[in-house]
Amino acid sequence: MKKSLLKVIVCPDCKSSMKCKIKQSDKLGIKEGFLLCSSCKKSYKIKNYIPRFVVSDLYVDNFSFEWHAHKSTQLDSKTGRDESTKHFQRITGFNLKDLKNKLVLDVGCGSGRYSEVTCNAGARVVAIDLSFAVDAAFQNLGKRNDIDFIQADVFHLPFKENTFDYVFSLGVLHHTPNCKEAFMQLPKLLKNTGRISIWLYSKKIHFLATDVLRIATTRMDRKQLYSVCKFVVEPIYSVTRIPIIGYPFKAFISTHENKDWRLLDTFDWYSPKYQSKHSFDEVIDWFKEAGLHDIKRLDFPTAVTGKKSN
Ligand SMILES: C[S@@+](CC[C@H](N)C(=O)[O-])C[C@H]1O[C@@H](n2cnc3c(N)ncnc32)[C@H](O)[C@@H]1O
Ligand SMILES: [Zn+2]
Repeated sequence: MKKSLLKVIVCPDCKSSMKCKIKQSDKLGIKEGFLLCSSCKKSYKIKNYIPRFVVSDLYVDNFSFEWHAHKSTQLDSKTGRDESTKHFQRITGFNLKDLKNKLVLDVGCGSGRYSEVTCNAGARVVAIDLSFAVDAAFQNLGKRNDIDFIQADVFHLPFKENTFDYVFSLGVLHHTPNCKEAFMQLPKLLKNTGRISIWLYSKKIHFLATDVLRIATTRMDRKQLYSVCKFVVEPIYSVTRIPIIGYPFKAFISTHENKDWRLLDTFDWYSPKYQSKHSFDEVIDWFKEAGLHDIKRLDFPTAVTGKKSN
């Protein structure tokens, strides 16, 4: 972590400031050490440049595995394409020009593809994830001086209220045990006039097919499930290309044009322990309950944005 992160983080329990004991540091920042709460005296490890506010990856070991297996599959700087940049704009409604010099929180960063988009737009980014995906994301982006990664749980975040100009969480909150409660942790972290955008799975009929299979796949060993996906995705993809006959098979696998992306997405549907679906009306009600204004449903179900008022 960079020393400057100390200005942003607080003790997740008592919200007091933290002191840092450095054991090892280099040009990438503080590599090993401890963060010590100045009030309740709790301490948290800094390991491999990342503050660890959790002791394990709890129910997201599938994501720890997934983001190491597919560290760069969706990263624009590695693919040479702008798919993640375009998708980010579509599902956040953020104008990249507005992010310049802003403090941005990426909640559930995975391999860091959207963190990269926001850094490229000139933002200072803090990216958190409960899983060891943060280590993959650090390998991707840790050399940059405009980003810090933190391993933390959305239900127990180490930030003060009124801290960030922008908060986004894309494809994350529906993978927690309580999506609404997870969302409710976030608006308070915004500064006045700050903006938040989230994207959640929608209640598409499409998901019914995978939900039935998920009863079995979520009980499987992660590596075995990944091997099964590797074995079946390409043959099923070939079938999906057959006119009419192939159509129903599209409900079972990702039909993304890139082979690695298809495998990643398909594993991502079948492996998470929690995976809830949400409608626009439901999510807009949450935004209203959180006191947000200028709430908009975006052109991609279920992506919603809102603003904290003065
Ligand atoms: C499908 S991935 C999305 C990653 C990234 N936002 C993207 O779209 O590329 C969902 C991520 O949410 C993280 N996640 C799930 N529950 C979480 C929690 N309680 N706190 C923080 N992150 C969580 C997972 O570890 C995983 O990396
Ligand atoms: Zn404390």
